[in-house]
Amino acid sequence: MKVLVVGQGGREHALAWKIHQSPLVDRVFVAPGNPGTAAVGENVDCAATDLQGLVSFAVDNEIDLTVVGPEAPLCEGIVDLFRERGRLCLGPDKDAAEIEGSKRFARELCEKHRIPGPSFWVFESPAMARSFLENRPDGPIVVKASGLAAGKGVVVCKDNEEARKAVTHCLEQVQGGGDGSIVFEEFLEGPEVSLITLTDGETIVPLEPARDHKPVGEGDTGPNTGGMGVVTPVTLMPRVSQQMETQIVLPTVHAMNREKRRFRGFLYAGLMLTQQGPRVIEFNCRLGDPETQPLLLRMKSDIVPLLVATAEGKLNTVDAPEWDPRVAVCVVACSGGYPGSYKKGVPIFGLDRIDAGPDLQVFHAGTRLAGRDLVTSGGRVFSVTALGADINTARQRAYDALEKVEFEGMHYRKDIGITAATSRA
Ligand code: AMP
Ligand code: GLY
Repeated sequence: MKVLVVGQGGREHALAWKIHQSPLVDRVFVAPGNPGTAAVGENVDCAATDLQGLVSFAVDNEIDLTVVGPEAPLCEGIVDLFRERGRLCLGPDKDAAEIEGSKRFARELCEKHRIPGPSFWVFESPAMARSFLENRPDGPIVVKASGLAAGKGVVVCKDNEEARKAVTHCLEQVQGGGDGSIVFEEFLEGPEVSLITLTDGETIVPLEPARDHKPVGEGDTGPNTGGMGVVTPVTLMPRVSQQMETQIVLPTVHAMNREKRRFRGFLYAGLMLTQQGPRVIEFNCRLGDPETQPLLLRMKSDIVPLLVATAEGKLNTVDAPEWDPRVAVCVVACSGGYPGSYKKGVPIFGLDRIDAGPDLQVFHAGTRLAGRDLVTSGGRVFSVTALGADINTARQRAYDALEKVEFEGMHYRKDIGITAATSRA
């Protein structure tokens, strides 16, 4: 069969790499892809946001399955468009993708269907949000813009003064302006877990729990990013794993059905494991980046039957994935200045010095070829993912590989997985 992957980041490189290994697949296309995906598939010169271009490519080339990486095309309705043109496309349709596209919708869904999350307040305008702050006792609070903001529309504030400043900042981050609303959330504490579940709206297949590291700086300092590194699996008490499934994932899938927004695809729950139990921090309507990279390195079985069965609404007919029991650590190398502004076109040296294999992979993200030279083209440039019998071995392997690479301004967190090595949720 022929598979098209939509996107150009590390997540899509990992997806293309995994799909390419399937004996069911003859050709993998990636639109638009990056220099890494070109090694495991054929890049197609079509942006992930050019929905008409993508559907025409799929029709003309008789693509059997399209897998969408990023949220923007899902929120724009790529799945609805493919369905109209008779092409199988894995992901939620436009209505279901709103679970990520509107934080307000997600919060109101949780409230209505009693899915545990923080207390929250929604404001239509910055002025209303600021006047709320004047009348509340001082203390920590979380400020979020309602629309899509590539992980940058959230500020965790220690007091009302910080929150006042964050209101303007968050709104500026929203792609396309969003609906202009601001959500304030109660500040929750506890270890975080990303739980991504494959679902066709009836059957659920949770993937292994993973832990992202969102802030740019070591020790979780500095502004939030799209994700600086991930470790998986995360050791959880059996009671907590069960609560995540029965109190969060299943009720959410059912709630979406009751709202007539049946969710098909990867449902990503960002959870805070509080003293009172797991709480939803956010939902995403897709696989995480960089969570996908270490998850797919650990997935031993073929992913393609799962993808096809989900898109066809027959997830109950296939086996759950088999996982490598080892730990995977993924570390993301970024451009100088990210998540703020950064230079592009900076030459990258030494990626070819890394010995990739089944236990260690480099996935490209913001890279491009300038003639024969590999240069930077984005904030998160590439990631290294390594497997190890324990977390320290996996960390050592990933960091040893990263040391072989340099580019001007390159930075990465040196502490990915350290809390996971020392704590248990
Ligand atoms: P989000 O993009 O909504 O996942 O938020 C990004 C990060 O901000 C999360 O991974 C958390 O570390 C933090 N965060 C978001 N919401 C809350 C909350 N209600 N309480 C504490 N931290 C939060
Ligand atoms: N790594 C977080 C995300 O993909 O949203």
